[in-house]
Amino acid sequence: MDNRPIGIFDSGLGGLTVWKEIARALPDESLIYFGDGKNCPYGSRTPEEIRQFSTEAIEFLLGKACKLIVVACNTATAAAIDYLRSRYSIPLVGMEPAVKPAALASQSGVIGIVATEGSLHGELFRAASSKYADKVRILPAVGEGFVELVESNREETPEAVAVVRKAIEPLLEEGADQIVLGCTHYPFLTKAFRQVIGTRKVALINPAPAIARRVEFLLSQNELHAEPGRQATRTFHTAASQDYLDKLIAKSEQAKQMDF
Ligand code: DGL
Repeated sequence: MDNRPIGIFDSGLGGLTVWKEIARALPDESLIYFGDGKNCPYGSRTPEEIRQFSTEAIEFLLGKACKLIVVACNTATAAAIDYLRSRYSIPLVGMEPAVKPAALASQSGVIGIVATEGSLHGELFRAASSKYADKVRILPAVGEGFVELVESNREETPEAVAVVRKAIEPLLEEGADQIVLGCTHYPFLTKAFRQVIGTRKVALINPAPAIARRVEFLLSQNELHAEPGRQATRTFHTAASQDYLDKLIAKSEQAKQMDF
């Protein structure tokens, strides 16, 4: 038994879509969420900058005695996970570009993946894509402006629908029947995605539940589970302002209510 908390971090609010799944799957585990906020978005930052921000987040969470840390950001995973694993011995869980489930489920043989520029240029995406390249056509698209919509609580606006349409309509026109949400902010835009998809038979793939299962597996493997039935805590921190922290806490409530 190990009652120390699990740490979760992201550039901002997006990692709450992963936090929500972990909180649901592991109610006895205390969670500490760190949403950078100050340096968000990471999408167009250099890998060196992202490694620096990720190191700061990990140091913060280690200072809170975390037993396992989830890099709940595809962009930070792409730029920094190998570097972080080489520096820290604590179990680290990164985001996976969910190409495999999309490729296996596709009937049309075409899948779309929407992510930040940084994620799509990363080695993880290249490796996952080349593994399935002979089975499906993989169409990448940058979610231009998506993170900004979520960070400013504008997901349910006509503007959000227009921004999502611009990115995914070309994928739909090419026959994609699976769209991978390759950035942890994007599940907050599910309604806008569905509005653009309309009556077309297209599935959205959110990798967050699989990440929660991975956390559970690592807790078991390393005998790190907390005592069953204990009072778990959920706390939130940021490198930005008190206003940002208030927004983060409000967004965590929204994440809990949302059906991603
Ligand atoms: N939530 C992030 C991701 O999963 C990062 C978005 C950003 O800061 O650009 O990629």
